[in-house]
Amino acid sequence: MCGIFGIVTDKEQNLGPVLIEAARRLMYRGYDSVGAATISADRIDLRKDVGRVDDVAEKYKIAEMNGQRGITQLRWATFGEPSQVNSQPHLDSDGDLVGAHNGNVVNNVELREQFMAEGMTVRSQNDGESCVHAVERYIDQGKDFIEAIRLAYADLKGDYAFVIGRINDDRLYAIKKGSGLVVGIGDGFTCVSSDLPSILPLTRKVIRLEDGEIITMHSDRVELRSVTDGHLIQRDVDLITEEMSAVQKGGFDHFMLKEIHEQPQTAREVLHRLGSDPGVKGILEKITNARQVYFIGCGTSYHACLAGSVFFAQLAGKAVIPVLAPQFIPQYAPAVGPEDVGVFVSQSGETKDVLNALQAASETGMTCFGIANVIGSTLTRKTSIWLPLSCGYEISVPATKTFTNQVIIFLYLADRMGGGDGKALDDLPELIEQTIRTTGRQVEVLAPLVNPWNDMYCLGYGATYPIALEGALKLKEITYAHCEGMLSTEFKHGPLSAVTAGFPVFFVAGPEDTALIVSGINEVTCRGGRAIAIGEADKQLKVNASEVIDLPHSNPVFAPLLAVIPLQLLSYHLSIARGYDPDYPRNLSKTLTVD
Ligand code: G6P
Repeated sequence: MCGIFGIVTDKEQNLGPVLIEAARRLMYRGYDSVGAATISADRIDLRKDVGRVDDVAEKYKIAEMNGQRGITQLRWATFGEPSQVNSQPHLDSDGDLVGAHNGNVVNNVELREQFMAEGMTVRSQNDGESCVHAVERYIDQGKDFIEAIRLAYADLKGDYAFVIGRINDDRLYAIKKGSGLVVGIGDGFTCVSSDLPSILPLTRKVIRLEDGEIITMHSDRVELRSVTDGHLIQRDVDLITEEMSAVQKGGFDHFMLKEIHEQPQTAREVLHRLGSDPGVKGILEKITNARQVYFIGCGTSYHACLAGSVFFAQLAGKAVIPVLAPQFIPQYAPAVGPEDVGVFVSQSGETKDVLNALQAASETGMTCFGIANVIGSTLTRKTSIWLPLSCGYEISVPATKTFTNQVIIFLYLADRMGGGDGKALDDLPELIEQTIRTTGRQVEVLAPLVNPWNDMYCLGYGATYPIALEGALKLKEITYAHCEGMLSTEFKHGPLSAVTAGFPVFFVAGPEDTALIVSGINEVTCRGGRAIAIGEADKQLKVNASEVIDLPHSNPVFAPLLAVIPLQLLSYHLSIARGYDPDYPRNLSKTLTVD
């Protein structure tokens, strides 16, 4: 989802390299276009286009751009196709204001018509341009800049953040409404960004903005104001101590591969954290006494919710309803209330679908908890108790280590609720390490066998069902093949007709469901299909499946989780074999802040 960055310095200088680097560090959010603007006392230089940061930077010589202030934006198309004119930043009618946004202005079409009727020059379909004209409208009426932004805020419906500046003014201004925005305070400059990775190389001093706040950025200080009445707000500066190496590739070819290999360590960290997190007790108490419990998320996080609901039934005897976040609103919100509990799960903590469901749930008085990776994200600010995934930065668009830790948190909570002390999970990091080691080579051998196919299935049963869904999602996301995740027993009710000689079907086998999985395997192999089993070394799997990816022997409760690792690795190797970049799959975004 789009990312914005703005910087104000104390003198005219070469800002291009700073803007390119900031844009690179926002790439993980997913984008299709990139742009940069530098602002001097009397001119604005704007360069933008569809394409990758490095390609656009080279084509338009962005590194040579000079100014006293700069703005860069990565766009992920929602309003208007990916094109140069729709790329951001945008100018106002006269070209003396420039701004860019992140998010979604839902009344964009209506506003554009108003702006045109008022005689403004509207160049694109993009809603970022509407943010600029919304301010221009009031500047033209003689309002000061803060007043113009306050009035524009009332006109712009939706969730967004934007940064804007003009000639003959040495400041930038930004506003937050629903999308993330962080301010950095440096030596001789201040900056603002959608996220920390673009700020931390420049400064460790940050201020987190809340919704409805306007920031005026000078080169040596910032002023925070409430959008409602313009009064000044005092906010402490936070010092970030996290290592920047966390956002580098650390010797791996791609972030995805690095993040897969980080899983033993991140699993250790989350288990260590859970052992002393006071939030665990509060969450378990509420879940125990709840009338009904819902686990709510989207994409990969939903698959963790599904796994969590299986673990809660099996380990704690508690029935939990897993829900795809947008469906919570029509299907459950009308029927829930203060006796119910919702656990909202999101890597980014900013997924709009999840935040919408959270809002609907909160309005019913339901108790809402969060599980998120990004500390300070909206989800962590809007839930009474939240548990951190403790994964550090996950840059690659396909989630890997955050999924594993989401499942570990649910396993831990279910074990505790079932009377355990969580110690049963202590071996898990070592087993994950072993799985990465032993399945890595097997997967490399398997990849060329399935690579010719653009249709596949990935099946599981019980706790391996959500793992199969997650494996299928990974394959879809980064190989662009169609891979359908399904309950293994459903395969014979229709999709079996797709099986022809060599057709690949993955079977994720939990140690306790081998007999059932073997039936499914035979239904495929006897029709010439290639049944690839992923499970613990088992004679029945070996003699029946076409190939077996062996998992280490482990506790049957968490054995299913280990199976996701070879599926992550297989997706990675297939993606590379097909010439794609697994970190940045086309059309996808890591942080989806739109409906
Ligand atoms: C996007 C990402 C998925 C992710 C989903 C939910 O679609 O591409 O990888 O699973 O959002 O994201 P969240 O941050 O809420 O876990």
